[in-house]
Amino acid sequence: MSNESTLVLIKPDGVNRGLIGKVIDRLESTGLKIIGMKLISIDEELASNHYSEHKDKPFFASLVDFITSSPVVALAINGEGAIQKTRTIMGVTNPLDSSPGTIRGDFGLTVEKNIIHGSANEEDAKRELKLYFSDEELIRYERSIDIWTE
Ligand code: RTP
Ligand code: MG
Repeated sequence: MSNESTLVLIKPDGVNRGLIGKVIDRLESTGLKIIGMKLISIDEELASNHYSEHKDKPFFASLVDFITSSPVVALAINGEGAIQKTRTIMGVTNPLDSSPGTIRGDFGLTVEKNIIHGSANEEDAKRELKLYFSDEELIRYERSIDIWTE
């Protein structure tokens, strides 16, 4: 495992249902560190860029409509194995299949309104972090608990 950073979005359903705090709590409680955070409205261009891998899928238009429909919280998350750890905490894509105890399993109901996005791998994480955060917006800092989380 190595120290890495990943992009998380709390999607419009998570923001509108008042779940921002709960989602952040799940991530922070594992020891992962927030190094960037903001509430933003995603425009169509950013949405298309972010989800370019899905541009030929039948659900692409509704995915873009959904993610641009209301603000999201963008988080840059750092820690040992942060990419896989975040995906594990999220649960699988469809909340009907996600295990209880995962964010999607506990809070999600439909494949579209599945609360959270997390980068799938190292390459995606690097690309997606750049879409949402400038270098200056990623804050490197030491926490006293870091000796227990690394
Ligand atoms: P995400 O990118 O949002 O973290 O989700 P994921 O990796 O688990 O799933 P992915 O395959 O990348 O799909 C991106 C998002 O598209 C929506 N989706 N809809 N209607 C459908 O069959 C369908 N399949 C995927 C989901 O909201 C998924 O999170
Ligand atoms: Mg994905």
